[in-house]
Amino acid sequence: MLICHGLTSTKYTLRRTMHSIAPHTKKLEGYEFYEKTLGSPKHIIAPMVEQSEQAWRILSKRYDSHLCFTPMFHAKLFSDSFSGPRYRKDQWSTNEKDRPLIVQFCANDPYILLNAAKMVEHQCNAIDLNLGCPQNIAKRGRYGSFLQDEWKVIESMISLLHRELYVPVTAKIRVFPTVEKTVAYAKMLENAGAQLLTVHGRVREQKGHHTGLADWDKIKAVKDTVKIPVFANGNILYHEDVKSCLDYTGADGVMSGEGHLYNPTIFTPQDMPPLSWVIAQEYLEICRDICPTRHSIMKSHLFKLFHSALPLHTDLREKLGKSLNWQHLWDICVDMKNRLEEDRIRIGEEELRGQTNDKGLRKYGHWRCQPYFRAGFLLDYEKAKGEEKERKRGSNMVKALEDEEDMAVALG
Ligand SMILES: Cc1cc2nc3c(=O)[nH]c(=O)nc-3n(C[C@H](O)[C@H](O)[C@H](O)COP(=O)(O)O)c2cc1C
Repeated sequence: MLICHGLTSTKYTLRRTMHSIAPHTKKLEGYEFYEKTLGSPKHIIAPMVEQSEQAWRILSKRYDSHLCFTPMFHAKLFSDSFSGPRYRKDQWSTNEKDRPLIVQFCANDPYILLNAAKMVEHQCNAIDLNLGCPQNIAKRGRYGSFLQDEWKVIESMISLLHRELYVPVTAKIRVFPTVEKTVAYAKMLENAGAQLLTVHGRVREQKGHHTGLADWDKIKAVKDTVKIPVFANGNILYHEDVKSCLDYTGADGVMSGEGHLYNPTIFTPQDMPPLSWVIAQEYLEICRDICPTRHSIMKSHLFKLFHSALPLHTDLREKLGKSLNWQHLWDICVDMKNRLEEDRIRIGEEELRGQTNDKGLRKYGHWRCQPYFRAGFLLDYEKAKGEEKERKRGSNMVKALEDEEDMAVALG
C-alpha cells in the first residue's frame, strides 16, 4: 500500500494501481550498488539536456568514461499518456550496451516521478532526481534547484522511489551558501533513501556569467559526512583536475559536464587534447552508423568541439548554424579539417603546447579540443588564488595562476 505523504494526487490513482508495485526484493544499496552494479566508476558523464544523448555516451565510453547519466527528462511529459509517446521517442533511447546508465528526471510530485521511473527502471541501473537545475524554466516548473527549499517534497519523492523501485534512487544536488546547510541537506537525502549523491559544488545563483568556481570544500564536507558514495562535480577543465578533485574531496568519482563536451577525451591521460575534427568525425560516424541522433543535438556538439576554430573560420560558423542534416555537418567537418591542418602547419604546434595564456590558462592551437571559460569563472580566479594557499586545493586551473606574474596579467 502506498503512502501519499499528504501530497494527494487523485489524478494519478488509476495509473498508480496500473503499475504492479514490486514487493520488497533485496536491491543493492550504497557501496554495494556502487561497486557491484556500477563497477566502481571514477569517471562520470554528467546529465546534460540535449547533450548526454546515447550517441555521445557511446563516444564517451571509448575515452574512459565509466558511467553516464541521461539528459534530464521531465517526469510529467515523459509519463503523460498524451505527450509521453512523442516525448520519449524524441528524447530517450538506450540498449544493453548503454550501461551502466542512470536515468535522470525532474519532478515535484512523487507519483508522477514514480510513474516515469517505472517506465525505464528495467533499462537502467538507477533513477536520479535532478535537484540542481538553476534555469528559469525550472523556477517556473518548480523543480531542480528550486526545490532546495522544499525538503519535505524532496523527501517524499526520494523515499517513495526508494521503496517502490527495483533499482536504487540517487540525487544530484547543488550546494547551499553554508557548509552546515549543505551537509544537513545531503544527510536528509541519505536518510530519505538516496543511494548515491552527486554534489555540484556551486550554489543555485552560480549560472551563466556568474558561474564562477565550484567549492570543493563543500563537496568534501558532504563526502566526510554521508555513508553513501559521492560524486564530485565542478572545476574539471583538464585531465589532471580529475585526480586533484578525487584527492582533495575524497569523492568516489568525478563528474564532468562542460569540460567533457569541449574535450570528450578529458578522462583519458593525454599529453595534449585531441584534434577537434578527429573527434567531431568520430562522433558523426557514431550518429550515422550506430545511433541516429537529432540534428539540433549533433549541431550543438559540433559548435562546442569547434569553438576555438569557429571565430577564425566564420564562414563555417555560419554554415554550421544553417546546416540541416548529417551530410551538411560532415562536409563542414571535412572543410574544417583541411583548414585546421593548414593552420597547424603554418602556426606550428610547439610554441603553444599547453603554455598558459594571458589569462593564466593553458593555450593550445585552435585546432585542438579545449575548455571554454566564462567571464565569471575567470573573475573568480582571484578569490580562488587567495584561498588556494590556505586550502592547498591543487586543481590545475588554480595552479595555472600560481606564478605571480601570470596572476598580475590575469587580474589586470
Ligand atoms: C549543456 C548542459 C546541459 C545540462 N543539463 C543538465 C541536466 O539535464 N541535468 C543536470 O542535473 N544538470 C545538467 N547540467 C549541469 C551539469 O550536469 C553539471 O552539473 C554542470 O555543467 C557543472 O559541471 P561542469 O563544471 O563539469 O560543467 C547541464 C550542463 C550543461 C553544460
